[in-house]
Amino acid sequence: MTQAKVAPARRRVRQVLQGEVTPGPLLVKGWVRTVRAGKDLTFVALNDGSCLASLQIVVESPLREAPDLARLGTGACIEAYGELVASPAAGQQWEVRATDLRVLGGADADYPLQKKRHSFEFLRSIAHLRLRSNSFGAVFRVRSALAYAIHRFFQERGFLYVHTPIITANDCEGAGEMFRVSTLDPANPPRVDGAIDWSRDFFGERTGLTVSGQLQGEAFACAFSDIYTFGPTFRAENSNTSRHAAEFWMIEPEMAFADLAEDCRLAGEFLQYLCRYALEQCREDLEFFAEHIEPGLLEKLAALAEACFQTLSYTDAVKELQASGQRFEYPVRWGCDLQSEHERFLTEQIAKGPLFVVDYPKDIKAFYMRLNDDGKTVAAMDCLVPRVGEIIGGSQREERLDVLEGRMADVGIAPESLSWFLDLRRWGSCPHAGFGLGFERLLMYVTGMGNIRDVIPFPRTPGNAKF
Ligand code: 4AD
Ligand code: MG
Repeated sequence: MTQAKVAPARRRVRQVLQGEVTPGPLLVKGWVRTVRAGKDLTFVALNDGSCLASLQIVVESPLREAPDLARLGTGACIEAYGELVASPAAGQQWEVRATDLRVLGGADADYPLQKKRHSFEFLRSIAHLRLRSNSFGAVFRVRSALAYAIHRFFQERGFLYVHTPIITANDCEGAGEMFRVSTLDPANPPRVDGAIDWSRDFFGERTGLTVSGQLQGEAFACAFSDIYTFGPTFRAENSNTSRHAAEFWMIEPEMAFADLAEDCRLAGEFLQYLCRYALEQCREDLEFFAEHIEPGLLEKLAALAEACFQTLSYTDAVKELQASGQRFEYPVRWGCDLQSEHERFLTEQIAKGPLFVVDYPKDIKAFYMRLNDDGKTVAAMDCLVPRVGEIIGGSQREERLDVLEGRMADVGIAPESLSWFLDLRRWGSCPHAGFGLGFERLLMYVTGMGNIRDVIPFPRTPGNAKF
């Protein structure tokens, strides 16, 4: 009986470089970052996405058993079998002396992602390949790690994870930014008195993609006390900025029996937890961002993890902005919505760190926020951080039926359209509060990346849904 030769299991580059693999026979697979052919030896840098660094593969020149050698260029997919040894040369601790190297998928010299530095604009035009670059490898490893950390944070604290619907009939934020979901024939919709008859649409009413899971989250909080959502959110706002996407992910916790102060406390703890987690678990990638994207990034995150968040009322924030002497594109007066330039000035110049702005005028905030005793402001909070501006928006919710009905009437929301939401105030109402963290805004803050398009796998923005 002959003994079948058993090939070793494939190992990830990260395992190898972290010293988890004992020297000896090794099989690795991945994509070629660079090839350097010498007279006697050829050096291949192999990356499989498991970490930033590549693994050096050394083969004798000319390569043996590489039938498709001509296509062993940058970008090719290869498998290498050989001996893992301590590298004799400087620059890397380990290398693989390959005895067998196969090209699984060759790449010609026109592979668009060459070693030189490309602009992020260019990389967006090859969103399917940019994933194999250093920057985007790091971004999406951090994104994955922080998604896990978000669940861990809430699960450790006993919050229930709820999946709120993606198709919904309510525009939670009331800003009229919903993408319509319809099966009516746009060329020939049914009409009554000239207007489109939405009652004959698929759901029997006008529906769209959700702008927030909050209202359904409130129903869950009024049964499970502490809950959170974490899912995709859609906004058809036509703002082509570096901080807005038409499809983004939001985390929305909701706590029964909580007021605005407790809401701010949870938001602060949450951000600090996530910064600490990233520092501990994504060190190599964060060091890359600190070197190439935002100098001082690690210190910034470490400082936030320890920071004392300041709180400023909207009214005081307006006074500070007016007294600052700074010229803004949009002048500030009480009652105006704070623009990005104001938010950044507040956090970067005035607070010099993370800041909660609370108690906004009711007319610039959503109908569900709890009316303060002054009758003019609501118990809202925005958390502002340097470079990004608003990263979190939240509030204590209006739990008094009559006040909520009054607010809905003021802003023109028909009570029948949200009868179930009013029911929560009719039976077993309780004080409650929550907030929404934009996942991509968090990633911009943690990685230092300046454009939201560069922290989403395949960004959706006005005029852009390719990939
Ligand atoms: O402030 P927003 O609109 O609040 C809500 O949606 C509430 N329902 C949240 C709640 O209280 N449960 O959005 C929350 C956060 C913002 O602070 C921002 O980080 C992010 O969502 N966000 C966006 N991120 C990317 N692109 C957009 N177009 C965004 N709009 C909001
Ligand atoms: Mg907001």
